[in-house]
Amino acid sequence: MSKKILITGGAGFIGSHLVRLFVNKYPDYKIVNLDKLTYAGNLENLKDIESTANYSFVKGDIVDAQFINKLFSEHQFDGIIHLAAESHVDRSILNPLAFVETNVIGTLNLLNAAKEQWKGEENDKLFYHISTDEVYGSLGEEGFFTETTSYDPRSPYSASKASSDHFVRAYHHTYGIPVVVSNCSNNYGPNQFPEKLIPLCIHNIKSGKALPIYGDGKYTRDWLWVMDHAAAIDLIFHKGKIGETYNIGGHNEWKNIDLVHLLCDLTDKALNRPQGTARQLITFVKDRPGHDKRYAIDANKIKHELGFEPSITFETGLAQTIDWYLNNETWLGNITSGAYKAYYEQQYKNR
Ligand code: NAD
Ligand code: DAU
Repeated sequence: MSKKILITGGAGFIGSHLVRLFVNKYPDYKIVNLDKLTYAGNLENLKDIESTANYSFVKGDIVDAQFINKLFSEHQFDGIIHLAAESHVDRSILNPLAFVETNVIGTLNLLNAAKEQWKGEENDKLFYHISTDEVYGSLGEEGFFTETTSYDPRSPYSASKASSDHFVRAYHHTYGIPVVVSNCSNNYGPNQFPEKLIPLCIHNIKSGKALPIYGDGKYTRDWLWVMDHAAAIDLIFHKGKIGETYNIGGHNEWKNIDLVHLLCDLTDKALNRPQGTARQLITFVKDRPGHDKRYAIDANKIKHELGFEPSITFETGLAQTIDWYLNNETWLGNITSGAYKAYYEQQYKNR
């Protein structure tokens, strides 16, 4: 069946993998990718599909309500998959307001536009909000986040995402907007901006720079291959129940220091360097303020209700990720010049 779907943030890391999946898998759908092209948005990510007939790109800011309303007056959307966000915790500590603007106000602007457009015609429509496991706060050594875990956001980023999740659910209960929310764990894979741990380390290993490990390095994250996240979003978009929440995770917990050791060894191997070379770059630095100790997802609901399981092992995904970064020097070079240098200097100067 033909549908017109708005994907926001489609030029970013996860969004670009999702846009590609939908454009290629659903030739009858029209995919409109709306993205502001902030530092994290990059149309290079979508070069291979940019001229495909069922794909179009619109540059714009979800914080601009007038622009959003105009876009909705030009298009009748059947579905919205909302990924556009400020997504990096460290940047949220430097500048929280930008996170409130994009993640909260931007989400509200989209909800308001959907509410007006779908009034009385909510059947077969869907507002799908992409969120994060960080809204649940921090775990100790034991336990997992389930869909009913209470919210306890502890960084400006997670507080803004939690707020947007609440608004999405409030619009469902108050105005009857058909919504679904998913909360995913840490993604990794090609095209991730090198401010996040894995691509930052690969980039620094390549250039012989220090690998900054916050605190004691024993913080734990649950890593998922980005294309598996896109596959889960596809499942939830088509088979998820209206009003429900789905947690998405990889059953793949790693302490940061163990992960960086593995990354070092795989990168040494890929670069034909003696084992142990990259590990010498590991440098313990001042901790992230408010650093959440451990995230781990209980993904039983999506597994049992929708049949989702991660498709590849971490070692395979990490090796593919390393190869991608080593073979895409131009992509990396283009985004690590200029503004990236200024950010890096500010973020790591006193650590
Ligand atoms: P990203 O930072 O790589 O991409 C975000 C995209 O949103 C960029 O293309 C950017 O240009 C765009 N954008 C930012 N502000 C905008 C605005 N005001 N108007 C329009 N576009 C704007 O982020 P990502 O890692 O791909 O994350 C995508 C979504 O998934 C986010 O909502 C994030 O909270 C969520 N998420 C991410 C992870 C992860 O590990 N990366 C895990 C769980 C959930
Ligand atoms: O859990 C999902 C979240 O995962 C997403 O919602 C966020 O958008 C995404 O950025 C990610 O958040 P994290 O803060 O967990 O990811 P990051 O890659 O920034 O950090 C991963 C871990 O590595 C974390 O414990 C902090 C640590 N770290 C990070 C950086 C950038 C370091 O030790 N050194 C670093 O230089």
